[in-house]
Amino acid sequence: MTKTVNLTTTGGDYAYPLLEGSVGPDVIDIRKLYGQTGQFTYDPGFTSTASCQSAITYIDGDEGVLLHRGYPIDQLAEQSTFMEVAYLLLHGDLPKQKELDEFTYTISRHTMLHEQLATFYRGFRRDAHPMAIMCGVVGALSAFYHDSTDITDPQQRLVASHRLIAKMPTIAAMAYKYSIGQPFLYPDNSLSYTGNFLRMTFGVPAEPYEVNPIIENAMRRIFILHADHEQNASTSTVRLAGSSGANPFACIAAGIACLWGPAHGGANEAALNMLREIGNVKRIPEYIARAKDKNDPFRLMGFGHRVYKNYDPRAKVMQATAEEVLKELNLSDPVLDVARELEQIALHDDYFVEKKLYPNVDFYSGIILNAIGFPTEMFTALFALARTVGWVAQWNEMISDPEQKIGRPRQLYVGATQREYVPVAARG
Ligand code: SDX
Repeated sequence: MTKTVNLTTTGGDYAYPLLEGSVGPDVIDIRKLYGQTGQFTYDPGFTSTASCQSAITYIDGDEGVLLHRGYPIDQLAEQSTFMEVAYLLLHGDLPKQKELDEFTYTISRHTMLHEQLATFYRGFRRDAHPMAIMCGVVGALSAFYHDSTDITDPQQRLVASHRLIAKMPTIAAMAYKYSIGQPFLYPDNSLSYTGNFLRMTFGVPAEPYEVNPIIENAMRRIFILHADHEQNASTSTVRLAGSSGANPFACIAAGIACLWGPAHGGANEAALNMLREIGNVKRIPEYIARAKDKNDPFRLMGFGHRVYKNYDPRAKVMQATAEEVLKELNLSDPVLDVARELEQIALHDDYFVEKKLYPNVDFYSGIILNAIGFPTEMFTALFALARTVGWVAQWNEMISDPEQKIGRPRQLYVGATQREYVPVAARG
């Protein structure tokens, strides 16, 4: 017996199905609402709207829970490789050894870029922001890999998915190399996905590059922590772009553009810049006061979240990783002291407690990336690299959904009602 929800509005009483998921909030199926009542729902920012059904990632914001296909993020971050998580998100289960070997081999065979794309980079200024390069180059992939853009063909969808996952480290590393005027390095498929990325980023042709296992492990965790996150802004952008039938490369380029915003993936770059601006623990109260001041646009970057009203479980793993990396590399960073103290003060301040603002995934990640040697401008590019796995999995899920239609939200119109045109001479 389907549960229903009753709605009384101008024009009568209506009953709408209440749909239950495997876990989490039920949803009221209002797909027939406009046709029956002539009215829309109103939910800017989609704070109470489920845009789709998905089996990939589950978040419980109140409990600070994040599951990928049912597996808790802390267990994946501790025990799995990024290729395992990529396979899990894409195919729904952890791979058996043979499946993992085949998947890893397939991805490694797509890590190179078409040589002509290296010329494409030369059109950018050397000081171009890496995210501008990522948007341009990823969008341009559809001009080079046209044989995997027919979204109605499952095999082409799979090839495009593999190409995107495989090429993002190469594209990101090339963006970094281009910005510092060093030559591009080709992928080395004898290395892990993460090790290959580190070598393409920090290696030089003149000498062999030894992957530091401590840094490789930290990057593995960081990539896993950023892999997917339900229907966040950039994933929703990828789904909306994909719903029009756009090719996968264009959809992921749209996701990269959305992720760039400081309220979203750009927060890791903004959070480290903020911690550096604060500079020392004595100045923290001044910035806490600014964050609480309604007339000041300043916000604590790396704090707060649309869904998490408890600790972001990724931030916990990220903080532990920051402590480990700095200790194991024998580095000290005064910014980490500022971050720790800022977190403690904020977590005990009524404003942050009442509004349930906790550190999110972006609060500590910049400290680790800075310690490893990435410039701040590369932080969001690394987020995009890792999130491509989630975007691709969500895009495939959407395309395969028989109920999927083109996304076309409506509006509450508050503009001028119809009026007659007035020639310019008569406008006074
Ligand atoms: C990511 O959606 C995802 O899953 C995203 C992500 C992913 O993996 O894809 O998790 C990645 O984007 C993490 C978030 C990174 N962004 C930041 O760290 C930027 C700083 N945070 C904020 O801009 C904000 O918290 C958001 C954008 C993250 C969430 O904003 P919401 O849910 O729209 O909440 P809101 O802006 O309505 O804020 C609620 C209240 C407001 O005060 P009131 O108007 O109720 O008085 O809390 C205040 C806000 O002013 N507030 C903050 C704050 N965040 C919210 N005040 C100070 N500092 C902050 N960081």
